[in-house]
Amino acid sequence: MKKLFAANWKLHKTPAETRDFLRAFLPQTKTVAAEIVIFPPASSWEAAAQSFAGSANCFWGGQNVWSQAQGAFTGENSAQVLKELGGRYALVGHSERRSVFHEEPTWMSDKVAFVQGLGLTPILCIGETLAERDAGQTDAVNARQLEEGLAKAKTSQPLVVAYEPVWAIGTGRVAQPSQVAEAHAFIRRNLQEKGFEGTPILYGGSVKPENAGELLGLPDVNGFLVGGASLDPESFLKICRA
Ligand code: PGA
Repeated sequence: MKKLFAANWKLHKTPAETRDFLRAFLPQTKTVAAEIVIFPPASSWEAAAQSFAGSANCFWGGQNVWSQAQGAFTGENSAQVLKELGGRYALVGHSERRSVFHEEPTWMSDKVAFVQGLGLTPILCIGETLAERDAGQTDAVNARQLEEGLAKAKTSQPLVVAYEPVWAIGTGRVAQPSQVAEAHAFIRRNLQEKGFEGTPILYGGSVKPENAGELLGLPDVNGFLVGGASLDPESFLKICRA
């Protein structure tokens, strides 16, 4: 399976900063034998769209989109607009959306289905909190979030899952390789039971150039979703070349 490296910029980079990053980054990705996706904030979608024209293995997407194209949804982002501008991917259920913005678990399947229906690829983010891990609930949480997120998903349409233990996101505390391997093996089996064969499973949570190689060598780790270390073109390139 081709590796996939995704950069979640969160609320970082203005349109000008987005163009600067991509001007430095994109020419260097021609020698990377993987697919790369950048997730700029929605306010920089258009700047991204202009910069990506003509790139063969690099794409961009939205960090959060609503499950309807338009309507009375003040402040939300439209997947229809994402598609119109040339975006290819959408994150669904990132832990910051779930915890900071209180997104409901019941929204996830509608978002995944709507994104798939537009011909875009959803990246469904799942993962346990530290309290849940300490209580031995890691598998149960991942199973529940897969169930909730994929209830309306089509096995015939593209899908990516990102396993991001909440306690490893932005903390500098990366999960141990054995913890990542166990979780990815569980998620792989769960996806197969649901009929999602060949779904790439990304790991996310404090991925850096220094730990990318070891993590990428684990079975069922098909790439990364990178936050902090994706904000600098050189650092993210090192991860893409791991
Ligand atoms: P991090 O973020 O790499 O900064 O831990 C990952 C994410 O939130 O997707």
